[in-house]
Amino acid sequence: MNSGIQKLILSASLLLPLNSLAASDSYLNANLSSDRRVDLLLQEMTLDEKIGQMCQFVGEASDIDFDSKDTKTDYTLALGARAGLIKEGKIGSFLKVSTFEEANILQGLAEESRLKIPLLIATDAIHGHGMYMDATTIYATQIGLAASFEPELAELMAEYTAREMRATGFHWAYSPNVEVVRDARWGRIGETFGEDPYLVTQMGNAMVRGYQGKDFSSPSNVIASAKHFVAGGIPYNGVNGAPADVSERTLHEIFFPPFIGSIDNGVYTIMPAHNEINGIPAHAHEGYLTDLIRGEWGFEGFYVSDWMDIQRLETAHKIVDSEKQADKVAVLAGMDVHMQGPGFFDNVKALVQEGEIPQSRIDDAVSKILYAKFQLGLFENRYTSQETVDTTLLKKAHRDLALKTAQKSIVLLKNSGVLPLKQGVERILVTGPNADHQALLGEWARVQPDSNVITVLEGINEQYASDSTIDHIAIARHDLISKAELSAVSKSAKKADVVIAVMGENSLRFDPNKTSAENVDRPTLDLVGNQIELLKNIKASGSTLIVVLVNGGPIASEWLTENADAIIEAWEPGMYGGRAIAETLVGKINPGGRLPITVPRSVGHLQSFYNYKPSAFHRGGFYLSSRKPLYYFGYGLSYTTFDYTDLTVPKTMATNDSLTMTIDIKNTGAKDGDEVVMIYLNDKVSTVTTPVRKLVAFKRIHLKRGEQKTLSFTIDNKDFALLDRHMKSIIEPGEFDIIIGDHLKVATVMVEK
Ligand code: BGC
Repeated sequence: MNSGIQKLILSASLLLPLNSLAASDSYLNANLSSDRRVDLLLQEMTLDEKIGQMCQFVGEASDIDFDSKDTKTDYTLALGARAGLIKEGKIGSFLKVSTFEEANILQGLAEESRLKIPLLIATDAIHGHGMYMDATTIYATQIGLAASFEPELAELMAEYTAREMRATGFHWAYSPNVEVVRDARWGRIGETFGEDPYLVTQMGNAMVRGYQGKDFSSPSNVIASAKHFVAGGIPYNGVNGAPADVSERTLHEIFFPPFIGSIDNGVYTIMPAHNEINGIPAHAHEGYLTDLIRGEWGFEGFYVSDWMDIQRLETAHKIVDSEKQADKVAVLAGMDVHMQGPGFFDNVKALVQEGEIPQSRIDDAVSKILYAKFQLGLFENRYTSQETVDTTLLKKAHRDLALKTAQKSIVLLKNSGVLPLKQGVERILVTGPNADHQALLGEWARVQPDSNVITVLEGINEQYASDSTIDHIAIARHDLISKAELSAVSKSAKKADVVIAVMGENSLRFDPNKTSAENVDRPTLDLVGNQIELLKNIKASGSTLIVVLVNGGPIASEWLTENADAIIEAWEPGMYGGRAIAETLVGKINPGGRLPITVPRSVGHLQSFYNYKPSAFHRGGFYLSSRKPLYYFGYGLSYTTFDYTDLTVPKTMATNDSLTMTIDIKNTGAKDGDEVVMIYLNDKVSTVTTPVRKLVAFKRIHLKRGEQKTLSFTIDNKDFALLDRHMKSIIEPGEFDIIIGDHLKVATVMVEK
């Protein structure tokens, strides 16, 4: 029986008029479940329309005058062939769309297509909606959020970012970046949560929840993308996208867990990495994309390629000899959406017609993409308005959170008693390339209106309104401080009581002079250019030298560590970073952040991380240099002190049980403050090697001076597991040390069968 007759009989039996039944049984009926709507829509789609959903293009509105009355005509002209493709249903999603007007125009064109399928509009909203053409809220970058050790902050940031995205017509964040860093030369560290798999996992999970809510069905949710799968943080030479030659064991122990966490938290898209992993490019890795991630880990969403990376299977990895073969290998491996451009459509269509790609693979990809569009409510509501934009961007709650992310991420690395600064300081010199620079915003942010950003200089001026003289010597470039600038600083430093030198990196996305970012990796980990020379001159002047670092990846400078009177690691603290830094300098904020990444002694000491295997240094160290890093993961000072007492850990634990332990923490100093309590495990003897310690729990708490709290932690039994010689996860009975913080307290538990 054909489906038309079936419908007729059904309608007669329900006594409903035919047209209302048609409406109710249509993919356009919002009362049906997203799954049902996907099934109905799929039945109506041609092969062209299906492959169209897998195709992503870039917007191109940058040169359009959105004030002109003819915006739509102008823009449609600029779109050229793409406008036609959208109307034919041959484009499913966009990235690099600049404004909400552009998003609306694109959606209007999609609504003219036969099936009216809305577009998914994606962006690199990494720490705020920073790629948007207009001013938005810019938070601290991920490395700073990780330093806060407060996943709740990351979750709220993602939630607020999603609101700003939806208000402007965007539905898909290429975030979180849950890569673990093992090579500090890599220029993308600011985008990551650092070196520890557990911390990265907790932060990534929080961001997925923040973006997607329960099931991304609310009008303020977006879909997230866990990226980049996998091991991009351990590339040859520290160079972005270079091969990862890494053992299967290390992949399982270090690099996979954050992705598993994101999947368990419902992440709907995953972006493979530019790299190859042990000889197989990520975008062609069927064993990972299909068997491991979908098959074993239960990923139900879809994959989006990274920028042009399917083409690169031919041009960079050379595993195929044509773009068509590249498309074939990628789609068969499991890739669903192609970022970006033409070519893919025709190739995939031909491959399906030739029987090289089964139709079922296409249906599988398209169903998942359509599910997101239904679930996000785009068929009902694809447009946005000026009013929504105006009432959502830069809301007070968002801006307050931006300040909080900066305050909470600051790590005090050194303090020879000079901080907090006294109010009565007569003359302060503020200098350095980051003193009055928007590098504070970090990677994936456009330059913002000056009135929306508080630089360090402005922050200090806020704190010392009238009673001190604040001098400023501007430094134009991070990598090249001129002779004139050097001598002006030396002169001014001699007159100052205190010099605040704001040094570091510049990773602003569109700055031609950036010193570290995507595709700008670091051949040195020291301060770039002649920044140290500037600091040496200041030191020679005899003034107190306080160094504030603004950077994504760790700055390794022995001279700095030994010679500065105080060092504040501010990371890339976002739009209000200057206020947070100044509040920390004067003690209104007591720094409570901790390092999410080890600061090595030099680039020659790489790889440098805290969770190394026990034999790492059993045969010695380096010529004329300590093997110890400048600062380990987890390090950070405070203006107060904390005492740890009464660690209670059960003497024994069964392998199928969890472990509950308590510890008392008291603020024993003179100021209120935050403490990050960290719990590490060490498996004392194991049949395969295990790290000297690994983080398994943490909590950041606030304690008033004199206040004491008892904290309780439950450690899951799977944290005691290792991968045996056959890569099977088992818990071996025996003794485990429970280590609190940096060996502040240690207890031993016997794990019994
Ligand atoms: C980056 C991704 C990003 C994409 C789109 C790529 O070069 O690796 O992280 O999401 O560009 O902008």
